[in-house]
Amino acid sequence: MKYLPIDRALFIKNRKNFMAQMKPKSVAFFNSNDIYPVSADSTLPFEQHRDIFYLSGVDQEESVLVLFPDAPEEKHREILFLKETNEHIAVWEGEKLTKEKAFETSGIKTVYWLQDMKRVIAELMAQSETVYINTNEHYRANVETETREVRFTKWLKEKYPAHRVAKSNPILQRLRSVKDPIEIDLIQTACNITEKGFRRILNFVKPGVMEYEIEAEFMHEFLRNRSKGFAYTPIVASGKNANVLHYIENNQECKDGDLILLDVGAEYANYSSDMTRTIPVNGRYTKRQKDVYNAVLRVKNEATKLLVPGTLWKEYHVEVGKLMTSELLNLGLITKADVQNENPDWPAYKKYFMHGTSHHMGLDTHDYGLLWEPMKAGMVFTVEPGIYIPEEGFGIRIEDDVVIQKTGDPFNLMRNIPIEANEIEDLMNR
Ligand code: GLY
Ligand code: MN
Ligand code: MN
Repeated sequence: MKYLPIDRALFIKNRKNFMAQMKPKSVAFFNSNDIYPVSADSTLPFEQHRDIFYLSGVDQEESVLVLFPDAPEEKHREILFLKETNEHIAVWEGEKLTKEKAFETSGIKTVYWLQDMKRVIAELMAQSETVYINTNEHYRANVETETREVRFTKWLKEKYPAHRVAKSNPILQRLRSVKDPIEIDLIQTACNITEKGFRRILNFVKPGVMEYEIEAEFMHEFLRNRSKGFAYTPIVASGKNANVLHYIENNQECKDGDLILLDVGAEYANYSSDMTRTIPVNGRYTKRQKDVYNAVLRVKNEATKLLVPGTLWKEYHVEVGKLMTSELLNLGLITKADVQNENPDWPAYKKYFMHGTSHHMGLDTHDYGLLWEPMKAGMVFTVEPGIYIPEEGFGIRIEDDVVIQKTGDPFNLMRNIPIEANEIEDLMNR
């Protein structure tokens, strides 16, 4: 891990909040992700499952967290099962969590090695009636792989068929959507690293540069600041590529006169940042590019003000649609007749702005949060309107990450990342 130790008070509090929601005589299990194979003995870099991380801070494969608030034995209220390590194993496998280190990280006193897990689980299952399993119910999830969590759940249900089953996911979706101040600091750190990357590339971009060279500059800056890299696959899309919403090839030359859409964010300690800026390759926006840019920026600024406690995600999107409609009319991209005749299920503005404006952001870039429940203070959202005009060869998106406050406007975690067209031009021409 490149990140600095996290205050374990966060994980202690997260477990306490989760356990407060559990039914009597119930036990909950949370698994690490697998290390995914490529072929032969190659593997992808390990990415911890965000739920076990959120509840324990354990950032290691083959770990299992158990929560059993009504356990007859106090030491079994919170348990970690970890891959065994000792000085000899460490020589071959590198540093893994010792029982002491696992306690320091998580605040969990009872740590067993994995080989004791089935025996201990048999004891816990005999003492409980309900088991919480951790299914993935994220609104955007589309998982083909059998995760370690799913394998474990299959095994558990087959071995203990008489237990009632309950869902961890809605509890976690609610808890994880409202961030603790320690989490806000971690997300702020991720945003600050993204800022460094962005300032670096403003001095680097010029006609003829390749999109992947810009990607490399970001990566360089991220790694030297304790990030393991991109929070999501970066989009470095020059010219017409910006109109492909999920363009990730990043292999084209940036041409004089074009814009580059950069949807790039650093991770820090498994927390994401999610930024988009759209900059001119040659350091100057054309009049038309600047007019569209400022329209997107106005929508972003006005939309942000709507992110207050009580707002419903769906109604928010209707309001942002109205803001965007007015800007597109002013830009001459749609007509009043288009708006009068629009299909309510696919309003006229969708021709130029076809994606959502905001999503929860945190341990996952598209983070947990139940979208039909009202917004609350402490939630972190992106605000990311865009206008994409294939017929004019460019697309513009601007994206910031903000925290909803109890009262007043949201707090912008990206307030220091240059965003005004004139400021970007000045920095590029220094
Ligand atoms: N970068 C992913 C998103 O903006 O949602
Ligand atoms: Mn983004
Ligand atoms: Mn986003």
